Amino acid sequence: MKNIKKIAAIVLAVVLTALAFAGCGEKKSLTATEGKLVMATNASFPPYEFKEGENYAGIDVEIAGKIADKLGLELEIKDVEFGSIIGGVQSGKFDMGMAGMTVTEERKKSVNFTDSYATGIQSVIVKEDSTIKSLDDLKGDGSMKFGVQQDTTGDIYASSSTEEGGYGEENIVRYKTGNEAVLALASGKVQAVIIDNEPAKSYVKSTAGLKILDGSWVEEQYAIAISKDNSELLEKVNGALKELIDDGTVKSIIDKYIAAE
Ligand code: ARG
Repeated sequence: MKNIKKIAAIVLAVVLTALAFAGCGEKKSLTATEGKLVMATNASFPPYEFKEGENYAGIDVEIAGKIADKLGLELEIKDVEFGSIIGGVQSGKFDMGMAGMTVTEERKKSVNFTDSYATGIQSVIVKEDSTIKSLDDLKGDGSMKFGVQQDTTGDIYASSSTEEGGYGEENIVRYKTGNEAVLALASGKVQAVIIDNEPAKSYVKSTAGLKILDGSWVEEQYAIAISKDNSELLEKVNGALKELIDDGTVKSIIDKYIAAE
């Protein structure tokens, strides 16, 4: 009887030790590539992300840089189509997606979102001399075309049916970047562009003959998308983000790019 107990104790000890080691071996790094934080974005969305020569700049780029610093990781930016960010985060190709990205219920089915770090509003850009004078003049009756950046919330709202408050799929022209949508507006291919307010302001400033209609559609929250399989990273990024919000860093970065009006 004594022997059996002894043997059982030894077996248990061996099993526990083995389990402990197995646990250590499985401990994977916080991000896909040890030491790196790979952020997917779509860098034609000033002032959140844009290219300055060879470099990336903007609110998201700077906040991401501070988060990476706090986590002791090196930030690596991948400039991809906006519509491929969520899928790439979901599959683990990117550690996070940060692109002035609006939190939506639909997207939450695929990825987790951090706490919000900024708000956005959908605005409408038209030509300065347009017959479209107010939001009420926007019609989904075939008399005008709406340009949007593919897969953005602007696309989703605008292409919904007129009953749902949109302008109908048939009246939407989709572009790869917001910039291309704005160029199409300037050259008369579409009569209005629906896009987030800060990029709208920035495009209007850099393109002659455009203006933003008064009034706005919806207010949105921007947050960082992270894989549902990496709750540790979500927790860490949220922790870093909270510190950066609490100590005023996020605000000062936003203020630096968005001149107080
Ligand atoms: N806020 C909008 C959305 O989430 C547009 C974001 C577009 N971002 C970009 N970097 N191009 O759909």
